[in-house]
Amino acid sequence: MTLLEIFPSLRDGGLAPRLDPAIWPADTHYDGEGRITVGGVALADIADQYGTPTYVLDEGEVRARCRAYRTRFPDAEIIYAGKALLTRAVAEWITDEGLSLDVCSAGELTVALSSWTDPARIVLHGNGKPFAELETAINCGVGRIVVDSLTEITLLSALANRPQRVLLRVTPDIDVHGHPALRTGVTDQKFGFPIGGQSVFEAVERILGQPNLEFAGLHCHIGSQIYDTFPYGEAVRRMVAEMARIRDGFGVTLTDLDLGGGHAVAYRGGDAEMNLAELSDIIEDSLDAACARHGFPRPRIALEPGRAIVARAGVTLYRVLSVKHVENGHTYVTVDGGMSDNPRVALYGAHYDAVVVNRHPTGPEMTATIAGRYCEAGDILARDVRLPADLRPGEVLAMPCTGAYHHSLASSYNGVGRPPIIAVRDGSARELVRRETIDDLMCRDIGH
Ligand SMILES: Cc1ncc(COP(=O)(O)O)c(C=O)c1O
Repeated sequence: MTLLEIFPSLRDGGLAPRLDPAIWPADTHYDGEGRITVGGVALADIADQYGTPTYVLDEGEVRARCRAYRTRFPDAEIIYAGKALLTRAVAEWITDEGLSLDVCSAGELTVALSSWTDPARIVLHGNGKPFAELETAINCGVGRIVVDSLTEITLLSALANRPQRVLLRVTPDIDVHGHPALRTGVTDQKFGFPIGGQSVFEAVERILGQPNLEFAGLHCHIGSQIYDTFPYGEAVRRMVAEMARIRDGFGVTLTDLDLGGGHAVAYRGGDAEMNLAELSDIIEDSLDAACARHGFPRPRIALEPGRAIVARAGVTLYRVLSVKHVENGHTYVTVDGGMSDNPRVALYGAHYDAVVVNRHPTGPEMTATIAGRYCEAGDILARDVRLPADLRPGEVLAMPCTGAYHHSLASSYNGVGRPPIIAVRDGSARELVRRETIDDLMCRDIGH
């Protein structure tokens, strides 16, 4: 007899608080043995088959998020920000779902093109694009390049041998809440040209002076983890005013306005997240008002969500290595991963939750700190996590909402290879990216 047969209430309502749908993929359940399944696959089985730590990615969840954007923003172009997570399969899924793709290096471009993403739907970003990467992008027919410096305009004009569409990145001087590294809308920082300034005009003049550059519009990205819609309304107002200023100064009417990404997701139950319906409303209303005010034709809007597409689709599996109760201190649960597969805690002070996946615990709980295995005192993955008091080494923990900026930010610190990515869908699992082995690491070390 299984646990769920004994306690049928566990099947739905009884378990709901532990598996918050805001932070887990929609297709997450407990199976008949009380184990957590995602995409119809028991996470404990994935840990057994592929080892740990392992990133699990729910294909259905990624696709559903793409569809949610397309439904909420039917007239906008949705450009997935590949920096959040890019593999050939992910590029295929988002292309299938009708999204465009933002890349910021020749490496990301190669992954995208190897998955048959149409180059015309690719947007190239970056505040420092090396010459060779610009050359590669132009040669393979990238649809748009977002200009981030005057030097780049010179390089592009030398490289473009046919009309190349460009956008100009502008900082709209909007300071959203959050970690300083996440506030990319403010003026004094490395990205873009300050709105309303002389440097925007200088850049516009230079772009217009290059016959092979086709000036399509403006771009801004105001920050990350933004759950308040107001800054996006403000960005629309300011950017349309800037487009009108450019029209008045140069007689060109730009057609495209790319509002970047930055839409917040919940990492732990109760965290605020972006409401797409409200975001859509505020963008529409602000656009109507700003265009009417400046007598400006409605530009084509683009959005660049990254995290909001993939974060909740990802779950990281770790095996418990030890449980240590420090006298008069905390309980440390050390797992076989840490800051190299999830640097977000150390980088941004991000907060996560975790649960045991190989059984459904019903007994007493403890409050624990989940520590990584790496040789840094700061290698802590999560604090104040409620876990079963009888948690043992060898059990498997899952950390939800780890699909964005985990694989893409991972390192091989301490000589530990990076985890694989295992996709789940309709009850089966497949490897998208294999585990990095010690042999892989040794391959790069040429020796004497
Ligand atoms: C230009 C640009 N667009 C989009 C994004 C995606 O941001 P997010 O993943 O927060 O949606 C970023 C993230 O840094 C970015 O720099």
